[in-house]
Amino acid sequence: MREIAFLAAREGGRVLLQKFGGVLTVAHKGAVDLVTDADHASEEAIVSVIRGTFPRHDILAEENSYGRCDSIYRWIIDPLDGTTNFAHGFPVFTVSIALEVAGEVTLGVVYNPFHQELFYAEKGKGAYLNSIQLRASSVARLDEALLATGFPYDRKTSPANNYDHFLHFQQAAQACRRAGAASLDLVYVAAGRLDGYWEMKLKPWDVAAGGLIVAEAGGMVTDFAGGPFDIYGKEVLASNGVIHEEVVAVLKTGNRP
Ligand code: IPD
Ligand code: CA
Ligand code: CA
Repeated sequence: MREIAFLAAREGGRVLLQKFGGVLTVAHKGAVDLVTDADHASEEAIVSVIRGTFPRHDILAEENSYGRCDSIYRWIIDPLDGTTNFAHGFPVFTVSIALEVAGEVTLGVVYNPFHQELFYAEKGKGAYLNSIQLRASSVARLDEALLATGFPYDRKTSPANNYDHFLHFQQAAQACRRAGAASLDLVYVAAGRLDGYWEMKLKPWDVAAGGLIVAEAGGMVTDFAGGPFDIYGKEVLASNGVIHEEVVAVLKTGNRP
């Protein structure tokens, strides 16, 4: 299954690279939420690899429904994480694929085709970038930490829009980034390139693979209060573990979704 996940992620990535920088068909799913023909083509490529080997596994993917097989195996797929970046030619995007077995995420793959970086983890077996084992950073204080976040699609209409948290962290941390691909933010925490990341109102395909990769790299993944992380929930907070409490304390001072 791991090999199929790699193959599917690379296939999706190949399709995305082919289309990157070319003429795209762009449609709006919501006021600021885009979808392009690249999202669809990547999903088709990924699903055909997975279904080609595991025709009776369930699939939860962002762009289409695939019916139900009532299998204990469920693939959770974001065929293009970072669509807005992609549509603007900003080269920060990934393919994200996770496998849930009886409700537990046991495998996660996040592939950045632009840099040919394949991040992956299997439950209990550590996290890797290509073949190098990953370790979250050891930065011990929030004021020395590089953080990342993102803002929800309903930010113009909802008071839980992350603006307050962002302001607080801009003061408390060394710096904050907003690069536009949740799965990449997560695996960068796993790789020690970021020390922490928080975001609200994401979908399971944004966080399932990256969440496992952070945990397997020795980082910590919870909700904003430090409670259990749920890929179907509304909050994700990932960190190197060391600064986690400090981050939770700051998140308490703003609006939660
Ligand atoms: C989005 C990206 C972005 C996050 C959004 C997500 P998409 O995924 O991960 O960083 O802030 O909320 O929905 O729509 O590009 O797959
Ligand atoms: Ca996404
Ligand atoms: Ca997507």
